[in-house]
Amino acid sequence: MSRLFLGIESSCDDTSAAVVSETREILSNIVVGQAELHEAFGGVVPEIAARAHAEKLDVAVSSALSRAGTQLTDIAAIAVTSGPGLIGGLLSGVMVARGLATGASLPLISVNHLAGHALTPRLTDNLSFPYLMLLVSGGHCQILIVEAPDTYRRLGGIIDDAPGEAFDKSARLLGLTQPGGPAIEKSARNGDAERFKFPRPLLDREGCDMSFSGLKTALRRERDRLIESQGGLTEQDQCDLAACFQQAVADVLVEKTRRAIDVYLASNPTEPAIAVAGGVAANTVIRAGLETLSVTQGMRFCAPPLSLCTDNAAMIAWAGLELDQIGKGREPVSARPRWPLDTSQPALLGSGKKGAKA
Ligand code: KG4
Ligand code: ZN
Repeated sequence: MSRLFLGIESSCDDTSAAVVSETREILSNIVVGQAELHEAFGGVVPEIAARAHAEKLDVAVSSALSRAGTQLTDIAAIAVTSGPGLIGGLLSGVMVARGLATGASLPLISVNHLAGHALTPRLTDNLSFPYLMLLVSGGHCQILIVEAPDTYRRLGGIIDDAPGEAFDKSARLLGLTQPGGPAIEKSARNGDAERFKFPRPLLDREGCDMSFSGLKTALRRERDRLIESQGGLTEQDQCDLAACFQQAVADVLVEKTRRAIDVYLASNPTEPAIAVAGGVAANTVIRAGLETLSVTQGMRFCAPPLSLCTDNAAMIAWAGLELDQIGKGREPVSARPRWPLDTSQPALLGSGKKGAKA
């Protein structure tokens, strides 16, 4: 019978547990969000997140087991996110996983949260290594070559606000609702993406690193100029500002990915493919830009369903399975708030609203 792995995820603001089989079946994937707990604070509050994880993990695990029609005795191993992320949440997850593993005499696999995202296209689409991965969410932004479950080459990353964070902050500047990404996308549908000349940050610099904070400042300046000259923003102004901002983010992501493709193709992949993950990958303009780019380069484009692109434990269970298959991940598990996938690269600067960048 196919082995079953229990996955546990609590690195940020989603408490999640899942049961996944070696044959790529997701038997359950319970995600308990915390958005309403943090709403009033404009970002994730680490202490509140940690307490909520500690309260919800037991329930998430028992729901995942029962939804899957399994018991702990049917599970072959437990995979837990041990970094990167917020220390309190990571500790809650690791402690619960350790307790369960010890009690049931099961092996415990330590999983990097970013590896969970990066390996999702193998769970959903069985992509073969190596493939190119663009990870764009509220907390992360990296372009990676995924070579093996434990081998990643980071070609670029964000040096300040992650793109989702930039969408959220920009939506606030425009008086739109949160989360900002979907609100900006909706408003931009009626906007003119050519009206304002917003910068395309870091395109003048070689390589694949990205920055979006200057873009947010440009948006604020244009907004303030309009308010000063006309006494406020019209709905059309709001839509045009949203459209110009969104187009600038899309242009930067597409151009940086194009540069990454050049590096990736130089390694002669047998089945060239590009995959996306993270909440921002839901944006239709960004997605269309990346898909067109993939097609023109003769590459397969893979966008897993959104529920598996955002934080979840099915990806952690799957990454645990893949690591276990190559004999990795069984070293003693402890929480690691910073844990870069590619240790040969310098650490990315700064920290996003969802904790330290890896
Ligand atoms: O991956 P995710 O659910 O959570 C983490 O960051 O871990 O990503 C959430 C982010 C939010 O910042 C949200 O504004 C952004 O993804 N997002 C979008 C869209 N949908 C969600 N950004 C742009 N366009 C969208 N349609
Ligand atoms: Zn994530």
